[in-house]
Amino acid sequence: MSATVRIAALDELPDGRGVRVDVGEHRIAVFRIGESVYAIGDRCSHAEASLSEGEVFDTDVECPRHGSEFDLVTGVPDSLPATRPVPVYRVSVVDGDVYLALDASAEQKESI
Ligand code: FES
Repeated sequence: MSATVRIAALDELPDGRGVRVDVGEHRIAVFRIGESVYAIGDRCSHAEASLSEGEVFDTDVECPRHGSEFDLVTGVPDSLPATRPVPVYRVSVVDGDVYLALDASAEQKESI
C-alpha cells in the first residue's frame, strides 16, 4: 500500500537542519538542504535517538546521541555504533509543497 502526504511548504522547512514529522505510525526526520528535501526514519537504528535533532554535514546527519552518521539518500550508517539502515521515504516538491510517499517497504523497515 502506498500513500502520498503533504507535509509542509518548502519555505516552511528550515534550511540545513532537520524537523520531525509524525504521520500516522511513521516518525520521520525531514531535512531541507537548499532546494532539496530528504526524509528518513527519525529513530536511530542504534538506540532510537531522534535523528531530526542531529547536525547535518553535506548529505549526512550525525546522530545526536552516539555520533553515527546516516546518509540522507540511502539511510545507511557510515560510521559506528549504528550498523543497520533507517527507512528512506520518497520526497517530491510540487508547486512549492513537499510531499512524502509512505510505501510498504518504508513501513516494513521502520518496524524492524
Ligand atoms: S542512538 Fe544513534 S548512534 Fe547511538
